Amino acid sequence: MNRNPNMKLSLLLVGLLGTGVAFAGPPAPKAQGIESEGYTWNAQEGEKLEALGYTGDIVNGEEAYEICGACHLPSGAGRPDGTFPQLAGQHTTVLIKQMADIRAGLRDNPTMYPFAISLIDPQELADVATYIESLCIPVEHGKYEGADAALQINRGKQLYEKQCLECHGKNGEGNKEKFYPVIAGQHYKYLLRQMTEIRDGKRRNANPDMVKVIKPYTNEDLVAISAYQSSLTMPGSMCKPKAAKK
Ligand code: HEC
Ligand code: HEC
Repeated sequence: MNRNPNMKLSLLLVGLLGTGVAFAGPPAPKAQGIESEGYTWNAQEGEKLEALGYTGDIVNGEEAYEICGACHLPSGAGRPDGTFPQLAGQHTTVLIKQMADIRAGLRDNPTMYPFAISLIDPQELADVATYIESLCIPVEHGKYEGADAALQINRGKQLYEKQCLECHGKNGEGNKEKFYPVIAGQHYKYLLRQMTEIRDGKRRNANPDMVKVIKPYTNEDLVAISAYQSSLTMPGSMCKPKAAKK
C-alpha cells in the first residue's frame, strides 16, 4: 500500500506541533460511557471484537504507525511531560480496546481523533497493535521529581500493593487476557492525569471496579500512587541500556 500521503501528513503534523498550531480535524462522535446507566465496561462488540480476532501483520503495522510517531515518537516512548503516553510494549488487547474506544468516542481524545481514524479497518487496528506491542519499553521516562520522591514512592507502594497489584501486577505488567494495561515505563505526569480523570469520572471508558477503588483517593494519594507506578519496571520487556544499542 502506498503510504506517501500519510508520510507527508506526518511531517506536516510534526511541523505544526513544533509551532504550536492546533490541528483542526473532524469532531469525534460521543458514545455513552461510565456516566450513563447501563454502561458495560469492555462490551465485546463492533470493530474491537473483529480486530481482536485477527492476527496482526507487523510490517503493515509499522507503516501504519508512522503517523502515530509524530506524537508518540517512533520508539513509542511518548513524552516525559505526559502530553503523549508511552505505548511501547503495551498489550495488543489493551491497544485495540483503547484505539477502538477513541474512534467510537467512548474515550475522549480530540487531539488524537483525526489520526486515530486514519487506521483503515479492524485488520489495521490489529496490525498497528502488534507492531507497538513488539517494541521494547524505554528505560528513560518521566518520573516523580520532587525532593520527597523516596517518601512518595514508599507511600504509593503501600497503596498499590493493597489495591492495584491484583489487577496491574507486581511489576506493572497488567493482564493481556483481561485488558488490564501495562503501567511499567509510563510517564508520571500522564499517570497522574489518568488517575485524576478515572477518579473524577472523566475517562469515560474506565473500569468500574477500578473506579470504586480510586474514588476515595485524595489528590495527595494520587501523587503518591503515580510516583510509585512511574518507578516500576518490567523485567524482560525493557529496552537495553543505550550503550548496548546498535
Ligand atoms: C496529535 C497527537 C497524536 C497522534 C498523531 C496520535 N496520538 Fe495516540 N494519543 C495522543 C494523546 C494526547 C493521548 C492521551 C490522551 C489522554 O490523556 O487521555 C493518546 C493516547 C493513545 C493511546 C492510549 C494509551 C493508553 O495508555 O491508554 C493509544 C493506544 C494511542 N494513543 C495510539 C495511537 C496510535 C496507534 C496512533 C496512530 C494511528 C496515535 N495514537 C496517534 C495523541 C496522539
Ligand atoms: C479490577 C481491576 C483493576 C483494579 C483493582 C485497578 N485497575 Fe487500573 N485499570 C484497570 C483496567 C481494566 C484499566 C483500563 C480501563 C479501560 O478499558 O480503559 C485500568 C486503567 C488504569 C490506568 C490507565 C493506564 C493507561 O495506560 O491509560 C492506570 C494508570 C491504572 N489503571 C492504575 C491503577 C491503580 C494505581 C490502581 C490502584 C489504585 C488500579 N489501577 C486498580 C483495572 C484495574
